[in-house]
Amino acid sequence: MNAEEAEKRAAAEAAVAEVRDGMAVGLGTGSTAALAVAVLGRRVAAGLRITAIPTSERTASQARGLGIPLTDFAATRRLDLTIDGADQIACPGLALVKGLGGALLREKIVAAASDRLIIIADARKRVTLLSGVVPVEVVAFGIEATARRIAALGAEVAQRMGSDGAPFVSDGGNPILDCRFPPIADPPALEAALRGIVGVIATGLFLGMAREAFVAGPGGVERLTT
Ligand code: A5P
Repeated sequence: MNAEEAEKRAAAEAAVAEVRDGMAVGLGTGSTAALAVAVLGRRVAAGLRITAIPTSERTASQARGLGIPLTDFAATRRLDLTIDGADQIACPGLALVKGLGGALLREKIVAAASDRLIIIADARKRVTLLSGVVPVEVVAFGIEATARRIAALGAEVAQRMGSDGAPFVSDGGNPILDCRFPPIADPPALEAALRGIVGVIATGLFLGMAREAFVAGPGGVERLTT
């Protein structure tokens, strides 16, 4: 295991230690969240009783394989806790960019339904200002028009392609535009501008959602709060 993976695992273990018997838990997506799901699976095998809502088909499949009981929003109004990764974590404030793994819409729905969102990451994700690629999930119809309107906000916009060379499609069946921005001085203003564009379903900007993050570096796991 390399240093980066060891740090991700340490952050994942610290977050999973917050899960208690009887909780409804949101399960994130990505390589760091997958480590948390693995740790949680071991606790479930040892007798922990929880239910969980996954943020992607990938995570659902992993959780099922580990025997973690899954539920949905028909049966569950609120989640006690969600553990998820991030692509960038701005400090201070814990504004996030998420969605390089393509699960941003379900991740945002699950985060919004959670009493507590814990972000787990290695310290390379920590930034002072969000910048670079912000994934934006859009409807397929009129994608060129939507892309032009996003570009007019100052972004270089590229439709995400899958590993098979075909356009990437999210679990919700939608394409994703990867929108490269210069350093984002005012994330709430950018979020409002993006959400004002018809055709935009959800952005990878997660603002005011995370109140805590477990960020692991060579010196151990640091708990950041807003
Ligand atoms: C998935 O859509 C993303 O939001 C992930 O949470 C994010 O990309 C972090 O993934 P890693 O833990 O693999 O870096």
